[in-house]
Amino acid sequence: MAKPKPARGRSELLIDQQARGPAWGRAAPIQAAGARPGARPRDGGDLLDLIGNTPLLRIRLPELPESVELWAKGEWFSPGGSVKDRAAKWIVLAAEAEGWLPSKRLLDASSGNTAIAYAMLGAARGFGVTVCLPANASRERKLLLAAYGAEVIETSALEGSDGAILEARRRHAERPDLYYYADQYNNPANPRAHYESTGPEIWEETQGRVTHFVAGLGTTGTFTGAGRRLRGLSPGIELIAVEPDSGFHAIEGLKHLPSAVVPGIYDPDLATRTVRVRTEDAYAMARRIARELGLLVGPSSGAAAWAAAEVGKRLRSGVVVTIFPDGGDRYLSTGLWEAKRPR
Ligand SMILES: Cc1ncc(COP(=O)(O)O)c(C=O)c1O
Repeated sequence: MAKPKPARGRSELLIDQQARGPAWGRAAPIQAAGARPGARPRDGGDLLDLIGNTPLLRIRLPELPESVELWAKGEWFSPGGSVKDRAAKWIVLAAEAEGWLPSKRLLDASSGNTAIAYAMLGAARGFGVTVCLPANASRERKLLLAAYGAEVIETSALEGSDGAILEARRRHAERPDLYYYADQYNNPANPRAHYESTGPEIWEETQGRVTHFVAGLGTTGTFTGAGRRLRGLSPGIELIAVEPDSGFHAIEGLKHLPSAVVPGIYDPDLATRTVRVRTEDAYAMARRIARELGLLVGPSSGAAAWAAAEVGKRLRSGVVVTIFPDGGDRYLSTGLWEAKRPR
């Protein structure tokens, strides 16, 4: 049997395309970091540009009246995976401008997400990072810190974030020559990050329609900075702070202020009111958001959504905006996702 004439083969097509220039099937050359105008290799500039401008996501919950809109900033879209990229960026830029970095190691206490953001920026911009972290921080957080090459000092789980703060202060007092103590709980660059980025983003993305801003309190940087900016833009806006209902809680990232060291950056006059959330309600809401909306968020997002829904249910109309600080994949090992689907 005569051998069939080969059909015009794939390789011939590729050769044609290559002759014509970049097209499907031929990879365009990978651009070097320096190819973007103004970008310098290894200065971490590109990474900084990716922080912020997170999507504002519509959260549709059946318990909300139709004329009430609920929106959330999806902060896990940031390169370090959380809202704390914003604070870390502003803190690091201020420290670099003052000449503390990269000659010293950045030292701070963190419940984990700020630590990860510092570790990412330290790797990109060439400074060392030491973080004091409560031992009960999720395994994923610890592994991420190892991945970025940060030094981690674990502190008592029972003492929570306050224990980590005391350890960071002690280390800094011992070796001020070695460490720059970033002190996110008292550093004005933390709320400034949200005053300059989160607040204006919410204003622009809602075209100035936001009526209620709901945010969890950890260092309080998000609530204080974004809240202050939004109140300046719209004096009648309601600012609702969210905290755990007791000092013994498992909502990573949040603080029960009545039983904790109150951060120096907190402005007690800002909140119109405070909503207190039980750990089980925060977890159940995080699971609902994953299973009903397809958004994998962490427990503090569950707390924020639970509080926002409590606010929204009592309104006739309004535009409620909240913050979803991080993603649920940071909690795969914690048992958060193991509850059966409620049906
Ligand atoms: C998961 C999570 N949610 C909420 C917060 C609270 O944000 P802020 O420190 O800006 O109050 C943090 C802070 O670390 C966090 O890690």
